[in-house]
Amino acid sequence: TSTPVNVTVTGAAGQIGYALLFRIASGQLLGADVPVRLRLLEIPQAVKAAEGTAMELDDCAFPLLDGVDIFDDATKAFAGTNVALLVGARPRTKGMERGDLLEANGGIFKPQGEAINAGAADDIKVLVVGNPANTNALIAQQHAPDVPAERFTAMTRLDHNRALAQLSKKAGVSVSDIKKMTIWGNHSATQYPDIFHAEIAGKNAAETVNDQSWLENDFIPTVAKRGAAIIEARGASSAASAASAAIDHVHTWVNGTAAGDWTSMAVVSDGSYGVPEGIISSFPVTTSGGKWEIVQGLEIDDFSRARIDASVGELAEEREAVRGLGLI
Ligand code: NAI
Repeated sequence: TSTPVNVTVTGAAGQIGYALLFRIASGQLLGADVPVRLRLLEIPQAVKAAEGTAMELDDCAFPLLDGVDIFDDATKAFAGTNVALLVGARPRTKGMERGDLLEANGGIFKPQGEAINAGAADDIKVLVVGNPANTNALIAQQHAPDVPAERFTAMTRLDHNRALAQLSKKAGVSVSDIKKMTIWGNHSATQYPDIFHAEIAGKNAAETVNDQSWLENDFIPTVAKRGAAIIEARGASSAASAASAAIDHVHTWVNGTAAGDWTSMAVVSDGSYGVPEGIISSFPVTTSGGKWEIVQGLEIDDFSRARIDASVGELAEEREAVRGLGLI
């Protein structure tokens, strides 16, 4: 068998970590024939809980799991790593201003970017899940100057999957009948789920649905505010669906998008679609051979333009804010 792929997961003792680690170890992240070695990073207070999860991982006797190492030191946790899933972050607590939130997360993602720069494997791929995901990814990327910028991505796949689910219900079709869904912008309430380029069984999705009021007043807000609706119903934030989306994101990045389809990933902008260069924004992307490319040449009408601009404007403001705080 081949040498194991090193996968580092931060926030491993958290709720997404608990839903994620078993799926990675079972082979769903990279493929059913790829052995993995898990490297878990936690803060010192949560190391014991991570050890408990590692005991359960042992007890699953996963044939593909080469072993589990636990760290409370980022430099060690990222040494030699091939895939880094940055899940641990500082949540917004009551009375916390945006600046405080960005500063607290800068304190996590700056040293993690530096540690990745110092010791990760040459083929390192990074997915940031911890919020504010796009800007946390930017902070880490800016502190890893020796790693190609395109290796830092943030997760909008959960939003993408939520959009597929809502559209499939509305149209009465299976999610697998829907292609070319797009999430643009920030993983926040300003995100823009776009069905104008999506297809249902090969036909334009917006024309097939033909219901602008549903699109504006139901679909877009439902997708954008789904996280809050889950908290309201479950009494806890989305964890299994977030973990599932993280699996999808990396699996698609490594194994490629299907012909005639694309996915949504937040990646470093090259200026495509008027998105300022350097910010980490969600785009329609195809992947092949472990590399992503932004889908080019889509026509953007005024309705979509306004929404993309609003979300991208928020990302540009977040970048200014972290610059102002000296975090990048
Ligand atoms: P959680 O609070 O259950 O777990 C977070 C874990 O991170 C904790 O165990 C904590 O000890 C750990 N942690 C904190 N600082 C750390 C550091 N410096 N290094 C390593 N570990 C550290 O949170 P949960 O539910 O697992 O969510 C994790 C993050 O994912 C949150 O920021 C959440 O907002 C975000 N999220 C993002 C989504 C997306 O679509 N991009 C969807 C859902 C959640």
